[in-house]
Amino acid sequence: MLRRVNFYSICIAFGLSVLLILAGSRYTDNTYYRPSPESHRIIEISIPQEIPTNPYDGSLNIATIMEKTRYNIKIELENYNFTVSGVKKLDDLIMESGGQPVRSIIISTWRSGTTFLGEVLNSVPGNYYHYEPLLNYEIIQIRGTPHSDKALNMITKMLKCDYEGMDDYFEYGKTHLHQFSHNTRLWDHCKYRKELCFDADFTSKFCRLFPFQSMKVVRIRLRLMKQLLENKELNIKVILLIRDPRGVMQSRQHRNFCQPSPDCWKPELLCADMVSDYVAASRLISEYPDRLMVQRYEELALEPNNTVPRLLKFLGISPTTSVEEFLLSHTNVEVSGVSSTFRVSREVPFKWRNVLNFDYVEDIQMACKEALNLWGYKLAHNASHMTSKDFNPLDNYTLAQ
Ligand SMILES: *[C@@H]1O[C@H](CO)[C@@H](O)[C@H](O)[C@H]1NC(C)=O
Ligand SMILES: *[C@@H]1O[C@H](CO)[C@@H](O)[C@H](O)[C@H]1NC(C)=O
Ligand SMILES: *[C@@H]1O[C@H](CO)[C@@H](O)[C@H](O)[C@H]1NC(C)=O
Repeated sequence: MLRRVNFYSICIAFGLSVLLILAGSRYTDNTYYRPSPESHRIIEISIPQEIPTNPYDGSLNIATIMEKTRYNIKIELENYNFTVSGVKKLDDLIMESGGQPVRSIIISTWRSGTTFLGEVLNSVPGNYYHYEPLLNYEIIQIRGTPHSDKALNMITKMLKCDYEGMDDYFEYGKTHLHQFSHNTRLWDHCKYRKELCFDADFTSKFCRLFPFQSMKVVRIRLRLMKQLLENKELNIKVILLIRDPRGVMQSRQHRNFCQPSPDCWKPELLCADMVSDYVAASRLISEYPDRLMVQRYEELALEPNNTVPRLLKFLGISPTTSVEEFLLSHTNVEVSGVSSTFRVSREVPFKWRNVLNFDYVEDIQMACKEALNLWGYKLAHNASHMTSKDFNPLDNYTLAQ
């Protein structure tokens, strides 16, 4: 009798764990395809609150996690061409071994294609994706004091894998797990043991294993990046990602996070930032020609096969098959759903022409005249012109000398 009860309870327990593991892996897939960077609520729902211990990683101690990760990075980069990254061997890029990683930051604003570009860079093997360090500032733009010093300090510390004293960052992350989940290589270990993600000591050590370190920031303007660019020790490369403000505003229209914040819903604020970014880009590129590059989102979406290799070359990253595979799987298929990177295709950049009403477009064009002109976006003259096939909003632009 006793034996039989035991047998049944083992069966039930086994069945339950299989279900839980299946549920766990399903959620994992969802979080991957869902990364809407700013719609916090959706992400949180997709991460189960009560999670079984991962039967594999959950049992590993820190030393084993570190050892496994070192090994995986080495294997994944076995055939990597380190000359492209300006070094001779993997160790030269690993902080733990006294090397300097390849560090990059994408600077942009909400709904300008950073999710896609961020994931392209994260498809490079051995990439540690710092994601958005300034999430806890919520929906504001940082253009100077009072926030800029602390924000820049935070970005610098993270790029150096120094998470000591970043209590605000970790506190915010505890209730906004997407702050960590986009960092897939970290999340692999803490999706079932979240305390690892909140642990400054673990994240600092873990981060130091990775040869490529990428970050995207949508809450701070380019002008302030000067401080990072002149920091020789950081050796940072910056990509400014620009998008047609009409496309940005269309994409922000149905985002709840946007409504309470003027920095998000007022086209005049968006476009003042775009003008400021233009001035900063012109000046900083002449000072740091090999450290700053500008990319328009429309060209990235229309021609990912040409644009991405150019961006990687600028960053000092050799193209890998994992990047090619990412592009193949994320640029051809259209899957409906908010902010899915699957939607990056030829249709997306100009969707605003068919969904925005011309009165609103006129308002944006009025507020954004200078920004549109500087960044090479043509005006739509009237409703039929806006939707006509002959209207190509893209023009050339040049930075100021
Ligand atoms: C590695 O990259 C360098 C610089 O781009 C190039 O000259 C060299 O031929 C490449 N080596 C291999 C094995 O592809
Ligand atoms: C990029 O190249 C791949 C393979 O070479 C091709 O299948 C794909 O259609 C191209 N994508 C675009 C957007 O041109
Ligand atoms: C709309 O603008 C186009 C291009 O400027 C122009 O040729 C056309 O006559 C305009 N249509 C109307 C109805 O005003």
